[in-house]
Amino acid sequence: MRFFALYVLMPLIMLFPPVIHGQAYGQTRTLNILYTGGVNGELEPCGCSPKTDFGGVARRAGYLAEHRKTLSPYILIDAGNFFDKDTPQGRLKAEAMLKAFSIMKYDTVAFLKMEKEFPYSFFSGLLKKYKIPVISDMPQYRQSISIKRNAFDVNVSVTPMNYQKGKLNILLSDQPISEIKHLKGWDIIILSSGEIFEEPLKANGTIIVSGYPKGERLGILTLQIDSGGEVLEFKHRWQSLGKDIKEDINVRKALKEYDAMVAGLLKDNSKPLAEISYLGVSKCGECHQPFVESWKKTRHAGAFHTLERVGKSADPECIKCHTAGFGEKGGFYSAKTTPRLTNVQCEACHGPGREHLLDFSKPMQPVAEYVCLKCHTKSASPDFNYPVYLEKIKHK
Ligand code: HEC
Ligand code: HEC
Ligand code: HEC
Ligand code: HEC
Repeated sequence: MRFFALYVLMPLIMLFPPVIHGQAYGQTRTLNILYTGGVNGELEPCGCSPKTDFGGVARRAGYLAEHRKTLSPYILIDAGNFFDKDTPQGRLKAEAMLKAFSIMKYDTVAFLKMEKEFPYSFFSGLLKKYKIPVISDMPQYRQSISIKRNAFDVNVSVTPMNYQKGKLNILLSDQPISEIKHLKGWDIIILSSGEIFEEPLKANGTIIVSGYPKGERLGILTLQIDSGGEVLEFKHRWQSLGKDIKEDINVRKALKEYDAMVAGLLKDNSKPLAEISYLGVSKCGECHQPFVESWKKTRHAGAFHTLERVGKSADPECIKCHTAGFGEKGGFYSAKTTPRLTNVQCEACHGPGREHLLDFSKPMQPVAEYVCLKCHTKSASPDFNYPVYLEKIKHK
């Protein structure tokens, strides 16, 4: 029997090593970790430029819904900092974000720096309503959560000491990589510090990834795990969330409700009418009609209509760049109260005109590149090039 094993089996083994290899691998199982982090309140991209038109919760949810089967088994995690600032609009965003998380069925989300700026009382009702499993080092929450998925036993935590033997350990953190990379005991660390790693880093046997800023892409980490729970291999890819992704209709519905509530923020209409430092294009036209004609041919003259077309004409975060003087004394306030100041008008570049009317000899604000850059930012206008753009809007 021993001879048989030695002389017959050994050559067979040597002849067919891939089979033996395959058997060992037969014990391994695949688990996908889908992650976001550092979304910073970006419910959806503004659509200002096709080059930056990526991400958004409606597409993320649509992608998940369509690929649920092929991605399974998976765990869906947000590593924190998905809220914007604690302002009235920030609160509406926070609720819409939680609602979207609940539709996507996030397995856990971390409350880190941005979330901690909101008072606990704001969340207490919402978390129950939307059943969001939160982990945080704030005293009201648990710091770790145990997730069972098929045969996988996963421990997700925000506390560097809380790893557990015998489980797959995932730490969520918004510390910079320099603070994190010496930690031991973690299989995976997901960061929401806003750092971009195109590929995962490896340190101390830990795989370190970081959520793509603003949620423009969904991170997908595919693990090969052996029966002892050890990660043998991993693959990583970014799922781009462009216009081609079909949106989830329930999340879109939540976003529509959000838009309606945001529109309600601009209800107080007594104050902005008090000042008239911005005159509006029809006043300028009384003396500069040819300039008005040339302006009408530029896209600036249709900027407000663009917002109406996409249902965002009452969103302060959009109208600040698609009107004249929003947020300034006597500038645009709302379509109802200041209809004369819709669109990127004369005074958005030349400055408020009241002083000019009192004394024509007083120069208006000189128009140079810095004026354009207030609106033509990297994310809204990635192709901006001053001479090229200037040529297109020059008064002729
Ligand atoms: C920082 C200023 C800024 C903000 C904020 C902003 N926009 Fe824009 N938007 C622009 C600029 C500049 C362009 C033109 C970009 C270009 O062509 O280079 C633009 C273009 C667009 C376009 C494309 C128009 C077309 O017909 O191609 C859409 C749609 C749009 N914005 C919607 C929005 C929405 C919705 C919001 C709010 C969520 C928003 N914008 C917020 C500056 C802004
Ligand atoms: C108050 C914000 C604001 C300022 C200031 C501003 N723009 Fe714009 N610009 C916009 C918006 C918004 C759009 C997109 C309008 C749309 O299509 O809805 C735009 C579109 C344009 C476009 C059309 C882009 C294209 O590819 O056709 C050009 C060109 C342009 N701006 C040039 C300029 C230049 C040059 C300046 C400075 C001298 C300037 N803009 C200042 C907001 C602004
Ligand atoms: C996107 C920014 C922008 C907008 C909007 C804009 N202008 Fe201008 N304007 C300029 C720039 C830049 C110049 C200087 C270069 C030129 O002559 O085209 C200028 C020049 C002028 C001048 C001539 C100044 C001179 O020295 O002769 C007048 C008058 C003027 N604009 C009026 C208007 C009026 C009226 C409107 C609204 C209908 C308007 N502009 C809208 C950027 C703008
Ligand atoms: C009642 C007439 C009148 C109205 C209304 C008026 N302007 Fe003027 N504007 C003038 C006169 C006159 C000059 C000086 C022309 C000159 O010196 O060649 C002038 C000059 C300018 C200049 C070039 C000088 C400079 O300082 O840059 C700009 C730009 C300008 N106006 C923009 C505007 C804008 C924008 C509005 C609307 C907010 C406006 N004007 C409204 C009469 C008017």
